[in-house]
Amino acid sequence: MKINRNYLSLKENYLFADISRKVAEYMTSNPDATLIRLGIGDVTLPLCPAVTEAMKDAVDEMGIGESFRGYGPYEGYDFLREALCESYKQKGVSLEADEVFVSDGAKCDVSNILDILAGDNVVLIPDPVYPVYLDTNIMDGRTIRFCDATTRNGFLPLPDSAVRADIIYLCSPNNPTGAVYTRRQLAQWVDYAREQEALILFDAAYEAFIQDPSLPRSIYEIPGAQSCAVEIGSFSKTAGFTGTRCGWCVVPRDLTREGVRLHQLWMRRQSTKFNGVSYIVQRGAAAVFTEKGRRQIHENIDMYMGNAKIIAQTMREKGITYFGGDNSPYIWLQCPEGMTSWQYFDVLLETAGIVGTPGSGFGGNGEGFFRLTAFGSRVNTVEAMDRFKNLLSC
Ligand code: MLT
Repeated sequence: MKINRNYLSLKENYLFADISRKVAEYMTSNPDATLIRLGIGDVTLPLCPAVTEAMKDAVDEMGIGESFRGYGPYEGYDFLREALCESYKQKGVSLEADEVFVSDGAKCDVSNILDILAGDNVVLIPDPVYPVYLDTNIMDGRTIRFCDATTRNGFLPLPDSAVRADIIYLCSPNNPTGAVYTRRQLAQWVDYAREQEALILFDAAYEAFIQDPSLPRSIYEIPGAQSCAVEIGSFSKTAGFTGTRCGWCVVPRDLTREGVRLHQLWMRRQSTKFNGVSYIVQRGAAAVFTEKGRRQIHENIDMYMGNAKIIAQTMREKGITYFGGDNSPYIWLQCPEGMTSWQYFDVLLETAGIVGTPGSGFGGNGEGFFRLTAFGSRVNTVEAMDRFKNLLSC
């Protein structure tokens, strides 16, 4: 038996596991510390009543012989796929329900989709970005190229026709920088992917946080994208499903490579390796699209975006350069006084009891940056920013 030696090329720990371990160690030596966690982007508001009511009804259905359901469809129940198509329609995007696959979350989809893509594809990954893209491709041993996201390009790298790529990850609004591609910029990526016969994996997990109506919330708002892009969406941040688990992956029927529909391969993969998301969870997710559900989740999103404003205001008051926060729940700030990301992590933890995420964990270009999340409670966000204002050294 041989192990997958590609795992030996990974950093020892997944970024957020590393942070949890450091915080746990700190708490062991400082048991009285009152920490405020603005590190991992985990939501703090509970599921909204429209969702929990739908889930309770679904539990009741499951407890009655006539309405009990066993295995569900691998690709998700029609009621949720149709609700998702309807929500795409409101963005001007036309999809058929069978192009939408319900899943247990975007993190799983962005990595599982690699099962249907050959190991010798060249992958293009923005730097910095959500570390799962890089780690999962290292696990498969793919050749990886990076496109630099820096202050010079507003953290929005554009395609370089001299660089060859087969698989391209895009994340907009971006995790961690909060930068959002315009239609024109996304169109450049779509043109590039079509020219190179590459595939874009578009992570739209944070689309619901876009406030500027001129910015695209789906790559399919760009003509031609259905022939070169898979889009991955999530209920985690939008509707508080980080612990409940539900997302979706769109694989358009027009998307073919080497004469094969990716849709067919993905269906084969999912039906073999995945038994679907529970009926109860899918009923809860569908309730997000009811009138009541929409209103309630928007109240939650507004609360988080209010936190983002409070954090941004503090950065301005302290004269700290920052990005994001206006169309995304992340504030991406420059570490003061030339500190490295992990040095700043230690300073904030030890002097203010604030946990954030070191930018270098998202890639080499993240060194010297730091991410704060707006997903804390309002009370904790205000308290964290009060502590922040009182910091002397930064
Ligand atoms: C993040 O903080 O970047 C995300 O919450 C992590 C994740 O979704 O896995």
